[in-house]
Amino acid sequence: MCGIVGYLGSSKACPILINGLLKLEYRGYDSAGISTIENNKIMCIKNKGRVKELQNIEEINSLNGSIGIAHTRWATHGKPSSINAHPHLDNSKTFSVVHNGIIENHRELRTFLNNAGYTFLSETDTEVIPNLIHYYYSKEASNEANRFVKSVKKAVQDLKGSYAIAVISSLEPDKIIVARKDSPLVIGVKNNDKYIASDIPAILEYTNNIYILDDGDIAELSSNQITFYDKNFNVVNKNIEVITWDAKSACKNGYEDYMLKEIYEQPTAIRETIGTILDDCKKCNFGNINITKDYLASLSRIYIIACGTAMHAGLAVKPIFERLTSIPVEVDVASEFRYRNPLIDEHTLIICISQSGETADTIAALKNSKLCGCKTIAISNVIGSSISREADFTLYTHAGPEIAVASTKAYTSQITILALLAIYFAEVLERHEDTIIQNLKEEILELPSKVSIILENTDLIKEFAKKIYKEKDLFFIGRSVDYATTMEASLKLKEISYIHSDAYQSGELKHGPIALIEDDVTVIGIITDKRLVDKSISNIQEVITRGAKTLIITNQEINNEIFPNIVHIPKVNPLLSPILSIIPLQLLAYYVSKEKGLDIDKPRNLAKSVTVE
Ligand code: F6R
Repeated sequence: MCGIVGYLGSSKACPILINGLLKLEYRGYDSAGISTIENNKIMCIKNKGRVKELQNIEEINSLNGSIGIAHTRWATHGKPSSINAHPHLDNSKTFSVVHNGIIENHRELRTFLNNAGYTFLSETDTEVIPNLIHYYYSKEASNEANRFVKSVKKAVQDLKGSYAIAVISSLEPDKIIVARKDSPLVIGVKNNDKYIASDIPAILEYTNNIYILDDGDIAELSSNQITFYDKNFNVVNKNIEVITWDAKSACKNGYEDYMLKEIYEQPTAIRETIGTILDDCKKCNFGNINITKDYLASLSRIYIIACGTAMHAGLAVKPIFERLTSIPVEVDVASEFRYRNPLIDEHTLIICISQSGETADTIAALKNSKLCGCKTIAISNVIGSSISREADFTLYTHAGPEIAVASTKAYTSQITILALLAIYFAEVLERHEDTIIQNLKEEILELPSKVSIILENTDLIKEFAKKIYKEKDLFFIGRSVDYATTMEASLKLKEISYIHSDAYQSGELKHGPIALIEDDVTVIGIITDKRLVDKSISNIQEVITRGAKTLIITNQEINNEIFPNIVHIPKVNPLLSPILSIIPLQLLAYYVSKEKGLDIDKPRNLAKSVTVE
């Protein structure tokens, strides 16, 4: 949940590191720091607060080294403070380390190191790492070849938990050693310059040529080469992956906030995601997933597993999978699924959704499922992400880098690709008439332009945001597929505006929550399924009778005179409506937060990818 950047090359490292940190702040932003090497000495500057505050420290400008590591933190062990900020140094100040992840056995390692004479300044789990490296380095003979990398290898062998680390040493001032387990890390190269990052957007401005480290890998970077070691410490070759995202896609591009930019990128994100699957003859190309008719017919259940917004994408596509494949679908939160011994076997297909592909619970749920004999499909937005390496098959959304903490374009792209997957399964199973499938494909192709129409008509949403931004509580209601949208809309509002909200199935109101409705409470209803209009309207009337003010998102004919605030969205098959109905509600969350003057892209206590439990 923190961000790592590193640089080794011919330029001054500090500006490159700061630039990278600014791009990674979405991963954590309660403290930040940099270490460089100058005249064989480690220079380390770190601070509580955002990267901008680090930039304002005068001494930062005097860091002249051309090798360095940097970190932006989201606190797990130890409160945000400059002492707990990374980089951390060993007692002799000869090794400096930045770390993402959690060292679960840090207490035992502290005791071990205390007994060996080491002391600790911070409350972090990370501080054991530079001291362990120092411990092993001092045990190696001084003429030992590869002494630095060997010491790092020995240190990481002692670590339990997850880590991505980058280490520099004043004793070998021309090298950076990196290692990873269950936390992402990539190395970018351009000529002789080398860049390290926990996330690709941090270094996209410099290079698209990336090496992706596998779990257990260690790499030694020096000015003229990179040596990769696998988990058994054998030297291995790696191929460069060329990343197609461009640097502009990781900038705000004139928008005030990344979230707004990403909301407006949805037509493109959806179009590109469709484009990778549907060919000119409108045939679904899922050639890379080896799923046969016999296999699908043997399934007793599909489980969709994910966290947060990605889990809501699962809820949104459950109806289309069930309708088209007649296979029961269960959607579960990864952190629950992984610990509750679910009844799964080779007749269960597991689909895990993760924008980042690095969410610890989702990866663990996927690994557990494989042990039970299930086939697994990952849906991810990040090429080479950890989940894609674990799953039997991976399907990529093509949303481009999502920087804002609140997920928007990844969500609608996930629903899009999953809807196409449901169609593909139906085709393989031959369970549906061609016309139904063809109509759905036509409708999917029209989605990008329908999203654009919604994005061009935002006045009512902006006005409504002004009316409600001071509220403390509000409610979202919807039936069937619209309920998934209420869940996502409620999460979006909570996380960036800090207003409490709840999502209910409209029919559930009478079973308790309606007791909370009184004068001026806001209720937002979503109505996109023709079959359920009358019932949904009665539910809205029930809350209006009790004094609620309402907003309705709909593509049905509803009387404007009785219901004052109606946002009309384009008509679409209800199985696809979550892709459209969420758009005004993403915007509502955005504009409410804007009215409140909050930091929309970096909401408090949150980080973009949750790589720890
Ligand atoms: C909310 C949000 C989170 C993520 C969740 C899973 O806007 O972004 O709820 O959806 O942390 O993240 P991924 O999809 O990266 O596994």
